[in-house]
Amino acid sequence: MTKILGIETSCDDTGVAIYDSQKGIIADLLASQITTHEKYGGIVPELASRDHLKKILPLIQALLQTAQLEPSDLSAIAYTKGPGLIGALLVGAAVGRSLAYAWQIPAIGVHHLEGHLLVPMLESPAPTYPFVALLVSGGHTLLAFVQKFGQYQLLGESVDDAAGEAFDKTARLLGLPYPGGPAIAKLAESADPMAVQKIRLPRPMLDRSGLDFSFSGLKTAVRQCIEQYPDKADPRWKANIAAAFQEAVVETLYEKCRRALVFCGCDTLVVSGGVSANKRLREKLKELGKTSYYPRMAWCMDNGAMIAYAGYLHYLEKQFEPLSIQVQPRWPLLDAAQLNG
Ligand code: KG4
Ligand code: ZN
Repeated sequence: MTKILGIETSCDDTGVAIYDSQKGIIADLLASQITTHEKYGGIVPELASRDHLKKILPLIQALLQTAQLEPSDLSAIAYTKGPGLIGALLVGAAVGRSLAYAWQIPAIGVHHLEGHLLVPMLESPAPTYPFVALLVSGGHTLLAFVQKFGQYQLLGESVDDAAGEAFDKTARLLGLPYPGGPAIAKLAESADPMAVQKIRLPRPMLDRSGLDFSFSGLKTAVRQCIEQYPDKADPRWKANIAAAFQEAVVETLYEKCRRALVFCGCDTLVVSGGVSANKRLREKLKELGKTSYYPRMAWCMDNGAMIAYAGYLHYLEKQFEPLSIQVQPRWPLLDAAQLNG
């Protein structure tokens, strides 16, 4: 029986989990830093690193206790090697690499996006290869054709802001708290549908062929809309803009997914990353008439489970880290796939 400890520290969540090759995820803990960063309206990288540093060892201890395991029960330690904030990544990599050395087991460096991409595999029913994957997080928006583990073809990606970033920036413009995605989604629920229809926001890149995304123009359009909104006496005016913005993002993602499925001749869509928690997106993607798979809500956002699971797949391929502590703050998914292949 193989047991992999997974560590995720690429951004503002300290996530640890244990994947058991027979039982699946047997323990999963997360320490969120939202209260540290929300007063700044975004993530402060140095504070994120310090917070990871404070929390990570007690969290791993608590994880082993929860799973009722000793370090000697573990087969390997997987940690997020990139992409992400360099200081935050270094905490997870230094702790993961060092513990693996001390416990005399292999260390595995995992690509954060590969973790997001494969975590729906832990659900039941799980998607079967090949599938089209839409990865929509705070740092990335991309479409990939996944033939099998390690074989990823990039179909398109954002040329500027990621979808989650657009949610976060728009939320800031509307005076909503960080992270913006859940705040916008919640506010949008109280919108007036008639008023929302009257708000004209662009559907970026839909007029062009290809599968790339662009969200920075949409953010500018929202800013103008806020400045020029005709009826700020309406208590729902912010909710209306939030709903119109959400609809513009959702429609754009929907159309690109539709095209990607046609392009690949594929019937299976896998959606992951923080924005995949968005209910309106899930509802809209049903209109594709294809089978769509999502991670459970807790695994849409950053978590240790996805790193433990991807780490397990690398473990089977004996893809281990050298003794040095290495991170890659910028790391295209395609490069990682080539390494795997
Ligand atoms: O995957 P994730 O936890 O971290 C990154 O790797 O970036 O994604 C975080 C992003 C944030 O931008 C957040 O605003 C967005 O996911 N998000 C949402 C929702 N929940 C989280 N966006 C839209 N709707 C949601 N319900
Ligand atoms: Zn992420």
